[in-house]
Amino acid sequence: MNNHRNNEYGQELFGKLEQLCDHPTKQHSSFNPHDTRVKELRKMKKFRFQLLHRWLVERFEPCRVADIAGGKGLLAYLLQRSGWHSAVIDPVNQALPHKYKDISTGKRVKLSPTDRVHRIDREFATSMAYRFDLLIGMHAHACNAMIIDIASELECGFVLFPCCVIDEPFYPPLGVQWLESVASYAIYKGHVVYPFRLNFKGQNIGLCSIGKRCHLLEE
Ligand SMILES: C[S@@+](CC[C@H](N)C(=O)[O-])C[C@H]1O[C@@H](n2cnc3c(N)ncnc32)[C@H](O)[C@@H]1O
Repeated sequence: MNNHRNNEYGQELFGKLEQLCDHPTKQHSSFNPHDTRVKELRKMKKFRFQLLHRWLVERFEPCRVADIAGGKGLLAYLLQRSGWHSAVIDPVNQALPHKYKDISTGKRVKLSPTDRVHRIDREFATSMAYRFDLLIGMHAHACNAMIIDIASELECGFVLFPCCVIDEPFYPPLGVQWLESVASYAIYKGHVVYPFRLNFKGQNIGLCSIGKRCHLLEE
């Protein structure tokens, strides 16, 4: 699929999600999915961790956050620098990147060899979630349904960018997108779901539920 068609397809899917997630009590202007900084964001297609970091710190008070299937841990590192208590849960131990681009200054930032993030190098299990207020799954493998389940039980928030259905406990019916299926499941489990979109390449539609354990910044 070329870029234009890909974008149209994404818009259509996003429209469906907005309809699906429409909720009478939904009223947070911080979750307006139509970002006004589209012009600026056009340049930022590949900086998904930086974009999600900024999206989070502009909306939520610092809290205890787990980046489930967090890979190298750049998102957890950026959140830690912003005063959040962050951890990566991922069975594959990977080193932090040596550098990243700060999207607010445009400058390259080097990490020190001694920089660390807290890691739990195991497959995500619901018992790990008790100490967190917000669960993040960015292209997380096999964890989306589990995150939704435990977020309902513990009343914590989540931010998901569901990508692939492999090893999840259910599959979407024929003709239904995996993303729609995840959103429907979260609604069924009692979450008020806010779809939003960030401008990075790949599956860039997020689903957010605030929960009761994390708090939005004053508007
Ligand atoms: C597509 S990568 C996404 C990594 C990162 N979040 C990103 O956006 O680049 C999927 C990650 O899921 C991790 N993973 C696979 N099974 C997992 C599980 N059961 N629990 C937690 N992480 C898992 C892999 O080790 C891998 O780092």
